[in-house]
Amino acid sequence: MSKLKICPSILAADFGQLNDQIAMLNNSACDYLHIDMMDGVFVPNISFGFPVTQAIFKQASKPMDFHLMIKDADPYLTHCVKSGAQIISVHQEACRHLHRTVSAIRDLGAKPGVVINPHTPVEALMDILPMVYLVLVMSVNPGFGGQSFIDRTYDKIHRLRALANSLNPSLEIQVDGGVSVNNATQLREAGATMLVAGSAVFKAPDPVEYIEALRNS
Ligand code: DX5
Ligand code: ZN
Repeated sequence: MSKLKICPSILAADFGQLNDQIAMLNNSACDYLHIDMMDGVFVPNISFGFPVTQAIFKQASKPMDFHLMIKDADPYLTHCVKSGAQIISVHQEACRHLHRTVSAIRDLGAKPGVVINPHTPVEALMDILPMVYLVLVMSVNPGFGGQSFIDRTYDKIHRLRALANSLNPSLEIQVDGGVSVNNATQLREAGATMLVAGSAVFKAPDPVEYIEALRNS
């Protein structure tokens, strides 16, 4: 059984102590820093921009995984790579020409991911699945941290894993929203390989220990 990859979401960090928070994550067993970028159009919130991601990149010794919650991602892909993105994930619902965007991410040397909102069926990904490194299944509606996990996500992960077995067996399945030690094992058993966790990690009394517990779920 391979361990879950853990991606703490920087959105939940204390931005007044950003360097300390990144140093803590550098010393933890996490696998990626999850970077949530929002445009106030695709989602009803705005997070941070490239000056902040550049500062994180300078400080981070872990690879960075970008989750773009933006309506028109294409003009920003190069900025993401310059900010250290090793994985760039874009929303299926936000990309008019998803195949083109996924190809552009790959051409820039990053690993492409596609994200689906809670209402989007995994079957909508059939024709893009062979091209992507990961699928991110949203287990909350995107835009905010600290929301409750939507239980139907388990079934979606099961169905996605079954699709991936024939179309892309090495597909990483990432889950984002309301993830904690309370649902991590069930997510792994459903077929998830990467977990994003924001509030659960940063509100834990010992975030480093918490990340370890998530990995071992
Ligand atoms: C929500 C973001 C998440 C968020 C998760 O739109 O994509 O990455 O930070 O936060 P928690 O783990 O608190 O639900
Ligand atoms: Zn995210």
